[in-house]
Amino acid sequence: MRRVSKAALTAALAATALTFSLAACSDDEGDKPDAAGSEVEVFTWWASGSEKLGLDALVKVFNTQHPDVKFVNGAVAGGAGSAAKELLQTRLQQKNPPDTFQAHAGAELTDYIKAGQLQDVSNLYDEFKLRDAFPADLVNRLTVDGKIYSIPSNIHRANVVWANPSVLTGAGLDATATYATIADWMTAMDKIKASGKTPLSVATTWTQVHLLETVLLAELGVDGYSGLWDGTTAWDGADVTGALTTFQKLMSYTNTDRDGLDWPEATQLVMDGQAAFNVMGDWAVAAFEEADKTAGTDFTYFPVPGTDGVFDFLADSFTLPVGAPHPDGAKAWLETVGSLDGQTAFNKAKGSIPARTDAKASDFSEYQQTAITSFGQDKIVSSLAHGAATPIAWLNKISEATSKFTTGATDLAGFQAELATAAQG
Ligand code: BGC
Repeated sequence: MRRVSKAALTAALAATALTFSLAACSDDEGDKPDAAGSEVEVFTWWASGSEKLGLDALVKVFNTQHPDVKFVNGAVAGGAGSAAKELLQTRLQQKNPPDTFQAHAGAELTDYIKAGQLQDVSNLYDEFKLRDAFPADLVNRLTVDGKIYSIPSNIHRANVVWANPSVLTGAGLDATATYATIADWMTAMDKIKASGKTPLSVATTWTQVHLLETVLLAELGVDGYSGLWDGTTAWDGADVTGALTTFQKLMSYTNTDRDGLDWPEATQLVMDGQAAFNVMGDWAVAAFEEADKTAGTDFTYFPVPGTDGVFDFLADSFTLPVGAPHPDGAKAWLETVGSLDGQTAFNKAKGSIPARTDAKASDFSEYQQTAITSFGQDKIVSSLAHGAATPIAWLNKISEATSKFTTGATDLAGFQAELATAAQG
């Protein structure tokens, strides 16, 4: 008979005890609490309203595809990630990342890549057969030095006006009219103002930057606007002065309580018939639908005047951070995000269009079908307010300058000078 040493026996007993305690845990809690694939903390800013409904739709597909992985909601409220991005930065710096987080395709994603905070997920593109599922241009925006760092969930359009037809007819305007230029559009706004309604609703700083980006696009055109981000358009030039003058005038048509609101409240003003127009990304259509409003009757939409034929683009995309505590849970989430079922369910609820090219257009709303067509044929530019055009630090400087300007703390020349300085890094 083989002799077993006392030490070996003690170790064996300890291991047995450990197995038992894990088993007990497993029975009580349904899964091993610390296993790499037991759960996934998903960090987004889709915390409430129609955005939460979009997330819920994605989670529903996730629960069907990965019933063994517990979804942990790490959503932080605040439109456009106004609060989430800062908190995320702190967590990443403290090496306490969530398992996966929402980021924008383009320059914002590059920030995280350069900081060494993301893992290359190219292998998942092979495993989940995603290489041909997304438009090549989008994959380029997600790629750095031949590596792909995230999986896109959707494509949003930023340059959309949402309008209330009753407010327009009430002011003596044709509710189906569109406007060739922002100047024409402001002539209509004068009538709305005279009727006692708010011509244009806007909310806190990031929505004002969103408005500013569409004015820059309308007035500088595709090349001039894109040149702002690659240095070929001068920020201190006369064209930019003209666009900022238009922006200043447009802001004079907006609600004065704007700085205390976030985007849902500004869109709500149009929904409730207190304001005529709102410039917002097409997540707004999900808010109209959530409120049971019908396109064409209760609300209308058109590209921001002067930007017809241009798709001001942004995409949400999910990552695998370095040091994610549950990498297998994150991979399961990424698989659902990239899947046809996941993209269809999520985008139907979110107002955006699927990043996958094999999704069926007929599954989507009337508005979304226009966005699908437009994305296929329009010129594409990168959104400033939503991380596609600039790194976060540059966007933050533009936001600070915009807020100072719209709260009256700087004049137009000072505003332009601050924007020009921000562009120098
Ligand atoms: C995101 C959208 C979101 C919007 C408002 C954008 O930055 O890409 O998914 O709905 O912000 O919060």
